[in-house]
Amino acid sequence: MRIDIITVLPELLKSPFEASILKRAIEKKLVEVHFHNLRKYSIGNYKQVDDYQFGGGAGMVLMIEPIDKCISELKKEREYDEIIYMTPDGNTLNQGISNEISLKKNIIILCGHYKGVDQRVRDLFITREISIGDYVLSGGELAAAVFCDSIIRLLPGVLNDETSALTDTFQDNLLAPPVYTRPSDYKGHKVPEVLLSGDFPKIEKWREEQAMERTRQRRPDLLK
Ligand code: ADE
Repeated sequence: MRIDIITVLPELLKSPFEASILKRAIEKKLVEVHFHNLRKYSIGNYKQVDDYQFGGGAGMVLMIEPIDKCISELKKEREYDEIIYMTPDGNTLNQGISNEISLKKNIIILCGHYKGVDQRVRDLFITREISIGDYVLSGGELAAAVFCDSIIRLLPGVLNDETSALTDTFQDNLLAPPVYTRPSDYKGHKVPEVLLSGDFPKIEKWREEQAMERTRQRRPDLLK
């Protein structure tokens, strides 16, 4: 998979890709992530990428021309399955969307900033708009990092134990059951007996029950 990210703040976005699982996925060439600084495609001597909105009102708007130039250059090199815009008024991200996008070959992610982008960018280029929740961030960069993490960890070979993404919370519309590690008794707080029993069908049944119970208590909406 190849991900091209267009942003005015690449420095805000890079560090999550330089540690742990994402770093390893890139090193193992399971994913390529490229950052494109929108300023490189700016117009005029002032390196302008944004301007005041027509009709008045506070806040700057990212202009269509630099974005068009950047996307056109990328499209000359390869075909893209999706051009995704990170925005608080997009579809709220969930595991199903991440699963779907993780199957794509090439995607572009456009990070909004200030008041957002000229509506014509959304109308002409964007295939999908994604929000990471009902709150407003200063820009789309952190949202793009969250989105990329949720996709990249699903790519085959990224996680050491491949089955572990399959047992994630949300993967089957249930929250994950509780997990424990050593010691089995911490100051009198004991690990549930069944987990130490070595009886794997029984352990599996216990985990399913716990997942169901946790979902019923915390997220009954997922069971509907
Ligand atoms: N940009 C600003 N806020 C955002 C959000 N909640 N999700 C995605 N992009 C955003």
